[in-house]
Amino acid sequence: MADLSKTPTLSEIEARLAAVATLTAEALEAESIAVLGRKSGALTAVLRRIPTLAAEERREFGAAVNALKERFEAAFAARRQELEAQTSGAAVAGPDLTMPARLRWIGGVHPVTRVIRDVVGIFRGLGFAVATGPEVEDEWYNFLSLNFPPDHPAMDLHDTLYLAGSADLRAAGRWLLRTHTSPVQIRVMQAGPPPYRVVIPGMCYRNDPFDASHAPAFHQIEGLAIDEGIGFVDLKATLTHFARQLFGPATRVRFRPSFFPFTEPSAEMDVECGVCRGSGCPACKGSGWMEILGCGMVHPNVLENAGVDSEKYTGWAFGMGPGRMALNVYGVPDIRLLYEGDMRFLARLARGAA
Ligand code: DAH
Repeated sequence: MADLSKTPTLSEIEARLAAVATLTAEALEAESIAVLGRKSGALTAVLRRIPTLAAEERREFGAAVNALKERFEAAFAARRQELEAQTSGAAVAGPDLTMPARLRWIGGVHPVTRVIRDVVGIFRGLGFAVATGPEVEDEWYNFLSLNFPPDHPAMDLHDTLYLAGSADLRAAGRWLLRTHTSPVQIRVMQAGPPPYRVVIPGMCYRNDPFDASHAPAFHQIEGLAIDEGIGFVDLKATLTHFARQLFGPATRVRFRPSFFPFTEPSAEMDVECGVCRGSGCPACKGSGWMEILGCGMVHPNVLENAGVDSEKYTGWAFGMGPGRMALNVYGVPDIRLLYEGDMRFLARLARGAA
């Protein structure tokens, strides 16, 4: 028979409870056996005292031992869980897991891309398709097919970026970086028979300084609508509808006579300044208007150069600069901000502030 005088009292066992929460994994398992172990655990030993108790005390004593046993079981389980969480956390990431998380950069659509998407979306709604063309062109596509005379100043080296060593390589003239998206008009017409209704977004390049109002690489969106019986009224109606979709239903527009070699007649379209609504402000340099595109009826020579019968088909074209438009739409004072990729500026714009 066990020596009962060595058995701890219930309160001695209970005193060990508080320490459970600080035990190491190893000590925890040892203590669990020492207290709850079925053969030689302290509580088992205590239970063995029951036969020595008076009959009326047994019940109460048994209940007290059981209650203590449950408290130990809960304490061991809690400590086990705690230790497990600590080790699995440390295994996944050595660094301090309590450090506050870094704010994540949420990307936004570039302001020029936003304007392009909006413009293209409006023309898609009118049944226009999207076309693209190469950024490296030759003199024929970029200038001559578009009815530029061979000595036009736009072809000068100080306006146009030519590819080195391309002179005299081909009958169509030197290779160059396209100065506008208009050569894609020719490529679209060469690709299949009329009718055509396309918008053409893309990059263009000019030998310009990079300053507040010029970028040597910039975006354009070209438009072309050719069919039987298309007239200037279609041009005006379509472009007016477009401007009101983009800038708001009450926006006023005006067409001013202009000149481009590839259109006749030619015009420039202005829209009421979105900042001052026409009264004049710094954004529109006091005029109340902003110029957004050039347009006109496609010159018969251009149609013929692209293989389209100019007796049967007529139509119109336009070209606009979504970079310039983004300056107006977002109130940006310097075009370089749009093309330098400065994240401080772009992040502010993405959050809606210019
Ligand atoms: N290509 C012209 C430019 O870069 C813009 C332009 C004007 C395009 C009138 C057109 C147009 O299609 O009809 O300045």
